Amino acid sequence: MPTDPNDLIARARECLDRAYAPYSRFQVAAALVDDRGRVFTGVNVENISYGLSMCAERVAIFAAVAAGARRITAIAVTSSGADLLSPCGACRQVIAEFATPDVPIYCDAAGKPHRWTVAELLPNGFSASRLGKS
Ligand code: THU
Repeated sequence: MPTDPNDLIARARECLDRAYAPYSRFQVAAALVDDRGRVFTGVNVENISYGLSMCAERVAIFAAVAAGARRITAIAVTSSGADLLSPCGACRQVIAEFATPDVPIYCDAAGKPHRWTVAELLPNGFSASRLGKS
């Protein structure tokens, strides 16, 4: 499976210039692997009504789900910025819907992947068990 961190970051970087970010000028791209080894990518898509903008991670996840994926085994994120990117809270919750706590989230830090897990980025998150669902 293409879960090598550098490979997955590279897959994300391939589509970074397709990010639609005319307002923030901050381009973000994500690549994820599902449990069948398929890779899905996404970029941030902004809107003149700023609040409607969508993060790259969620674009990639929604594309994967639309293609039938239900389990993410790794995700990588990169950006046009120089600093380490850390996924926003909304994306963390959406990642947790489709990934187990041990799943790695590789964030590009100046060309070097920094590894977090879902559990590290969303400790004590809202989950099905808290709703009384298994
Ligand atoms: N953004 C992402 O795509 N992913 C993140 O994890 C953080 C922020 C986008 C949203 C917006 O288009 C731009 O980056 C600046 O916030």
